[in-house]
Amino acid sequence: MFMLVNYVILLWFTFIFIYLTTSLAKTDYSAYDCGNPSNRLNYTADSKFKTNLDTTLSKLPTTNNGFGFYNLSTGQGIDRVYSVALCRGDINPDTCLSCVKDAIVNVRKACPNNIYVTAYYDHCSLTFNNDTLLGNNTIDRYNYRSGAQNMTNVALFNQALRSLLDKLKADASTGGSLRKFASGNTPGPDFTTIYALMQCTPDLSKQECNVCLDEIINMIPRYIPGKVRGRILVPMCNFQYDITWFFNESTPLVIPPPSSPQGMDVHF
Ligand SMILES: *[C@@H]1O[C@H](CO)[C@@H](O)[C@H](O)[C@H]1NC(C)=O
Ligand SMILES: *[C@@H]1O[C@H](CO)[C@@H](O)[C@H](O)[C@H]1NC(C)=O
Ligand SMILES: *[C@@H]1O[C@H](CO)[C@@H](O)[C@H](O)[C@H]1NC(C)=O
Ligand SMILES: *[C@@H]1O[C@H](CO)[C@@H](O)[C@H](O)[C@H]1NC(C)=O
Ligand SMILES: *[C@@H]1O[C@H](CO)[C@@H](O)[C@H](O)[C@H]1NC(C)=O
Ligand SMILES: *[C@@H]1O[C@H](CO)[C@@H](O)[C@H](O)[C@H]1NC(C)=O
Repeated sequence: MFMLVNYVILLWFTFIFIYLTTSLAKTDYSAYDCGNPSNRLNYTADSKFKTNLDTTLSKLPTTNNGFGFYNLSTGQGIDRVYSVALCRGDINPDTCLSCVKDAIVNVRKACPNNIYVTAYYDHCSLTFNNDTLLGNNTIDRYNYRSGAQNMTNVALFNQALRSLLDKLKADASTGGSLRKFASGNTPGPDFTTIYALMQCTPDLSKQECNVCLDEIINMIPRYIPGKVRGRILVPMCNFQYDITWFFNESTPLVIPPPSSPQGMDVHF
């Protein structure tokens, strides 16, 4: 009897442990795009491309431009490797660096031998391939995620979200050649506050950044319609929004005064 009780308790604790670890793990986002599934480009173990990729990825973490953007290209001609990594604009340098380093290790396991690869995480993304990356806002891949929960007042929510994203788009795209990031919040329907951040890699021009962000904003109705939280990511730009606060502000949150219904509060 005593043994049985112990066994049940042990089972119970095992269950709790598994439950906790799996539910915690869900907050850590990771997604891998290893290339076009119907024509996945591969390198071979003895190729020059592989040697260049090893060199490039080992040095990439040393190329931080000071604002969480990393870029490095090595090699010549068809063996040239292009790589970039971008940290979310609000995270601290230590978190950023460890995200990029983990990405480099994990991406080689998730996409072994693949040439055209992007990995997305909560705090950073990493892309490498054998084609020009910098200043190229052609979107040929995307990733999205949303919460299951729907907004009750979809039309008003979309209106508020849309104007927040348009404002953040303007601020992010004019951010300059080192950093193109903006975050902010706006009142939504039903006493909600919508929080969002937006970002482009800083190598994009203002115009290219605008185009990139417009394209992913236009994917909202298709991929994350009426959701209380969501994100859409491509290698060169991304956004994320939620009705709970999820990013570190560089300045204290200011609640917009009631006298300005269009009021929006934007931080860099
Ligand atoms: C690349 O490798 C994958 C998995 O090994 C294979 O399915 C695919 O056909 C290869 N791609 C090409 C273009 O040969
Ligand atoms: C990238 O690699 C693939 C496969 O080796 C090759 O077909 C393609 O031409 C390369 N692209 C460039 C721009 O070198
Ligand atoms: C947000 O700020 C807190 C306090 O400074 C810090 O501990 C935390 O790591 C930051 N979060 C990120 C994602 O950088
Ligand atoms: C830009 O990226 C697209 C998609 O990856 C690629 O097909 C194209 O060749 C690139 N453009 C240049 C100028 O390299
Ligand atoms: C949200 O709305 C979609 C489409 O109307 C529906 O399929 C889904 O079940 C809803 N989700 C929840 C959590 O109610
Ligand atoms: C990319 O790296 C090169 C070489 O270090 C550097 O000159 C260039 O400014 C970087 N580009 C951006 C947009 O940071």
